[in-house]
This record gives sequence, structure tokens and C-alpha cells, in this order.
Amino acid sequence: MSQSLQIRRLAGALGAEISGVDLAQELPDAAIAAIRQALLDHQVIFFRDQALTPAQQVTFGARFGPLNIHPYVAGMADHPEVMEVVKEPEDRTNFGGGWHSDMSFLQRPAIGSILYAVETPEFGGDTLFASQAAAFEALSPGLQATLEGLNAVHSAAREYSSQGHSAQKRKSMAIAEADGLVGEYIHPMVLTHPESGRKALYVNPAFTLKIEGWKTSESKALLDYLFQHCRYEGFTCRFSWRPGSVAFWDNRSVWHFALNDYPGQRRHMRRVTVDPWPVQAPAAAARRAQAVS
Ligand code: SIN
Repeated sequence: MSQSLQIRRLAGALGAEISGVDLAQELPDAAIAAIRQALLDHQVIFFRDQALTPAQQVTFGARFGPLNIHPYVAGMADHPEVMEVVKEPEDRTNFGGGWHSDMSFLQRPAIGSILYAVETPEFGGDTLFASQAAAFEALSPGLQATLEGLNAVHSAAREYSSQGHSAQKRKSMAIAEADGLVGEYIHPMVLTHPESGRKALYVNPAFTLKIEGWKTSESKALLDYLFQHCRYEGFTCRFSWRPGSVAFWDNRSVWHFALNDYPGQRRHMRRVTVDPWPVQAPAAAARRAQAVS
């Protein structure tokens, strides 16, 4: 199976389209390992012309880790791990319409997201991706070293509290307002990828509130600089969806942005989100690694 995967790069910094695999099938471990390697190599990978039921999307996603149940957005009734990302013709805002990394507001953020297109608008509705590994590597050694010693505070408050962006009424998605529930979690500003060893910036405009231990004004100045730097077009790729397209991105090193440029049209996607494996004893971890290699 792995020999038949064809991989075509989409842009200089990240992104590759993969053909020669049917994600609806129970894939052999070798195929899963090849897909995992492609994700490590390209940070976001795309597949075309797939036909996935929610159950098949869950089965595929669960090969990469436990699936997240979103704390604020309702999943499908019979598949709570599957989030329906829908924008109806009368909706003005869309879900994911700003640069972010999924679930950085959790204590153990999601490692990957797998988005499947059910219905796409006639025009528009593309998603942008930006490599935060490339963004880190483009900084000076001095700023890199400074950032490696810093942590940042992340929270869902700006998005999911009653005053947040997602609290604006829309017909299409059941998003629970979460005042009082939204916690703050501290993450390093630079993550070393546990599998590739590549370093990436880990802050994002949607969920990063401030730099730990810094004054608000100091923190804002540096974060504003980074948020501008990180979206430079040389770090990005752009994906145009068709029904049956799938994107699989690594949240540890990639930002994404769902463009809201298709007024009056419907867009319907389904997402599963992959959590990190629970921390476990070394023997069990070794068995798991063997199972996917
Ligand atoms: C998301 O942020 O997960 C949604 C991305 C998209 O709909 O393109």
C-alpha cells in the first residue's frame, strides 16, 4: 500500500496532496505509517475524491490517536467526536475564520485535525495554512533563543465565552457559551515536535492571551509582532475544496484560517480532532509504537 501513495507538494513551506489511497477502507498499518510520515514531512496533507461516512472518518482518525470531543461545540448525535462545521447561506460568520491552531486552549492540545468536505460553495471557502516551523526558522537566532525560554497563556474565552466571537448567533452550529468554564493553560512558546524534532512557534491570535510573567503592554507588543510575522505568505499554502476532499493538519506546527468569502452559499464539512495519547508506562508506549510502525 505505501508504495502506491503518490505525494505532490503544493507550496514551498508546507502542504502536499496525496493520491492512491481510499481512506474509507480499513487501512493496513504500513499505509497508516506512510500517511503519518507524509504528515510529518509536509505538516498538512490533502486527499481528493474520498467518500467517508462519519463512522469511517472516526475509524481513520482513531488510527492516529484518541479523538477529541469538543468542549463547546456539539458533535453529531450518534458520533460525538465528529463536529459538523457548517455555514448556512444566511450566516454571516464562519467557524474557524481567523488564524488559529485547534484546541491550544486545552491543557493537552489536539495534535491533529482531519476535515472532510461534504458540500462546498460554488466559489470561495478555501482554507489557508501557515507553517509555524518555517515561521520559527525565519527568526534571528537571538529572538529564537529568547522565545525558547518563554511560555504563553492560552484560553478559549475570546472565542467561546458569551462575549466571544462564536457566541454570535448563527443557525448552523450548536456552540455552547462557556462563561465560568473556560480555563487558562500555559504552553511553551516554542514546541519541539515529539516525532520530527523540528521546532515551531506555538502561539496563535485566537487563543493566546499573553506571555507568562510579562506586562500586558510588553506581551502585546511581542505577540503582535509574531502574529504578523507568522502569516507571511511564504509560510503558507492554500487549499480549494471540492466535495470529498480531506485535509489532515498537524496542530503542533500549523495555523489555519477558513476564508469567509462565499456569502449566500452553503459550506458543510465534518471534522475529527486527534488528541495526544495519554501519558503511559514505557512498556505500553513501546507496544503502541510497534503497532503503528
Ligand atoms: C476549522 O477551523 O477547523 C475549520 C476549517 C475550515 O472549515 O476550513
